[in-house]
This record gives sequence, C-alpha cells and structure tokens, in this order.
Amino acid sequence: MPTPQPVLSPLTTASVFLVLTVDQGGEPAVRDLLGDLAGLQRAVGFGHPAGELSVVAGIGSDVWDRLLPGLARPAELHPFAELHGARHSAPATPGDLLLHIRATRQDLCFSLATEIMARLRGSVGVADEVQGFAYLDQRDLLGFVDGTENPVGAEAADAVLVGEEDPGAAGGSYVIVQKYLHDLDAWNALTVEQQEHIVGRRKLTNVETGTPGSHVELNTITGPDGSERKILRDNMPFGSPGSGEFGTYFIGYARTPAVTEEMLRHMFLGDGATEHDRILDFSTPVTGTLFFAPAADTLDSLAD
Ligand code: HEM
Repeated sequence: MPTPQPVLSPLTTASVFLVLTVDQGGEPAVRDLLGDLAGLQRAVGFGHPAGELSVVAGIGSDVWDRLLPGLARPAELHPFAELHGARHSAPATPGDLLLHIRATRQDLCFSLATEIMARLRGSVGVADEVQGFAYLDQRDLLGFVDGTENPVGAEAADAVLVGEEDPGAAGGSYVIVQKYLHDLDAWNALTVEQQEHIVGRRKLTNVETGTPGSHVELNTITGPDGSERKILRDNMPFGSPGSGEFGTYFIGYARTPAVTEEMLRHMFLGDGATEHDRILDFSTPVTGTLFFAPAADTLDSLAD
C-alpha cells in the first residue's frame, strides 16, 4: 500500500482549514506546491518536534482532471451532494483544494499556512479559512466531548484508506468538510438533560444515553454484514466571541464517501423513525465540499 498522507494523525490542539479554488492557469503552481508539501511541512516543523505539525491536502472533483491530468481519477470522487430536508439543508460550496493543517501549537499551523499561501497567491482564490482550537477537555462549543467514537489503529486505517478496490487511489482517503455555525443562545436555553438527549451522551461524564433519534444514534450505521461503518472525524471548534460567531468545523475522512453521505442523509433527511438530527435545530452548515486526499507518494511524484 502506498504511504498515506498523515490523515491518521491524532487529534491536536490547533488547526487551520484552508479551502481554495484553483484559478485557470494556476495549475502549475498548485502542482509544484503539492509536490513540495511534505518538504515544506518538514522545514517548518522539524525544529519543533513536540509541535506534531502535519498537513493533508485534498483535491476536489471539478479540478482533478485539469490539475492532475496524468493521474487516474479516484473512482468515487464527485462534488459534494447537496441535501434538502423538510427543515434543514446541507449546501454544496466551492473548493478545489483543502489544506488540513494540524499541530499542538497554533503558531506552527499559522506558519505553515503562511508558507503555503506565499507559494499559491496569484494562482488560487480563498473560499474559506478557519482556525480551529481544542476547547477544554476535547469539547465542541455545544459543550460535549467530541471524537470519542473515532476508530483507532488498524481499525482507523481500514475505515479511512482506500485499498485494493481502487488500486490507482490506494492509500488515499475521501474527505468531507462542513463548517457549522451554532445558535448558542438557543442551545443554552435548553436544559442540560434536553441537550444530552439530542446529542446522545451525558454532558459531564460523556457516557451514552441510548436516546433513539439522537445524533449518536443517527450516525451509528451498519453495512450489509451488520458491522459498524466508521469514519474518522477531526472536528475542531472555532469562533469569535466579539462578533458572536461560534462553530464546529466538521471534517470526516473515509475509505468511501458513501459512509459519510449516509450519515449526512440520516442527519438532514432522517432515518424513517426520526425526521432529522435535532443538533441541526441549533447548528447550520454554511459550507460543504468533498475532496480526495491522495497517497503521499502520489503528491511527491508531482515534484520536479
Ligand atoms: C455541528 C456539527 C457536529 C457536532 C457538534 C457533533 C458532535 C458530536 C458529538 C459530541 C458526538 C459524541 C461523541 C463522539 O463519539 O464523538 C458525535 C458523534 C458522532 N458524530 Fe458528530 N457532530 C457534528 C456533525 C457530524 C456530522 C456532519 C457527521 C457525519 C457526517 C457526524 C458523525 C458523527 C459520528 C459517526 C459519531 C459517532 C457515533 C457513534 O458511533 O457513537 N457528526 N458528534
């Protein structure tokens, strides 16, 4: 299996999510950057080993053939599928390139993002930029511990990395991102117990409530053989108290986008028994984009 990009890196305390569009004519600069990305990460991070700096690049469906004409197209790469439920919608928004930068220090993320943008300026547009941070004891801004049920070790690699089903894309991973904004005034007007039933976990202890129709239940999905189908989430809180912005940046890696898409359908369209995920009554996605993060070897091969 080709070496993957560091998609399996552990959750860190700081992150930057950059979503870019590639200008017509900007392709050579972007290809050069992708070929040098691992080297750039080493250059910025090497002197700070405790900083655990990493970067994953994802490439969008619309730009794939234009940007990487010599490379086989991943079999399941397609634009993010918009969803319109009875109450809530998940929009699809532009994005050709995702840079998911992680470290234990915000300054290292900032420094690498700065180097990347210095290389790309004039060749790309910036669709979205979010600086995420760890909040308290791994909580989202709704106040709940987020990330508990993530797969780890070999289970994570199996859930996240494309294998022999698509040899040209092996070692890569499909990534879906959505930027959610929370209505914290409305959320905080609920009792803690009401919140716990919406999420499906106790707020203090993080223990599951077993509530039917909760966020946890709607996102627990099984394959035809009855085994649970997992994704790897690296969600990060972000916000700006001064302007009243509070959010969760959702990012989910998966071996096939179909798993994440089934979760999203449950959340927005319901699962038959439940009309929609009530987390959405307090959280609105303002972006939605799908990318493919090729194996590290594939990116390295773009270097001159
Ligand atoms: C506003 C955005 C979101 C927030 C605040 C949020 C928060 C949470 C929390 C607190 C948990 C429980 C602890 C855990 O296992 O991580 C959880 C579980 C989970 N969430 Fe989300 N989530 C959000 C969006 C999403 C989206 C968009 C998806 C999928 C497309 C998703 C998929 C999952 C999955 C798979 C689980 C684990 C279920 C299980 O097996 O127990 N979440 N989320």
